[in-house]
Amino acid sequence: MTASPSRIIAIYPGSFDPITNGHLDLIARGSRLVDRLIVAVLQNSRKKPVFSVEERGEMLKEVVKPYSNVEVSLFNGLLVEYAAARGANLILRGIRAISDYEYELQMALMNRRLAPQIETMFLMASEEYSFVSSQLVKEIASLGGDVSGLVPAEIDRRLKLLVGARPSSK
Ligand code: PNS
Repeated sequence: MTASPSRIIAIYPGSFDPITNGHLDLIARGSRLVDRLIVAVLQNSRKKPVFSVEERGEMLKEVVKPYSNVEVSLFNGLLVEYAAARGANLILRGIRAISDYEYELQMALMNRRLAPQIETMFLMASEEYSFVSSQLVKEIASLGGDVSGLVPAEIDRRLKLLVGARPSSK
């Protein structure tokens, strides 16, 4: 008798401030590998986000609509505790370059120590997005540069609105 395959419920955690096409590519590829993918936005980040956690959640919900097995949620506290509470058995993270590796390895090992039953799986970013980060996107957009093609159209629109709303320094 063959054992029935267990369901894979994955968590893709992050700040997503804002979501980039690199994140979206990872969501699209990750969603094909697992039964359910929960994109989880960290609420209590030490980073000072440009978009509120509610805005980030809203933007993510908008762009993951085409993926029927993907949902978006907000979380607080320890990632592994949230993952366990949601019945997730996998943490999904992306690696763009070797510079990401050290931090990601440290987090993966720490998470494994905290919750050995939850595996971390890394996907390599697609070459075309391997240089894209939320940080750079925000910097370029705030200086009036073109970030279309690096973020979903809706995010591009919101970034432009943010820049337009900022008082002029003149
Ligand atoms: O997009 P980011 O900012 O690189 O994501 C980092 C994130 C949210 C994955 C990480 O900060 C996290 O998991 N925070 C939750 C708190 C926690 O569990 N910390 C211990 C990680 S070993």
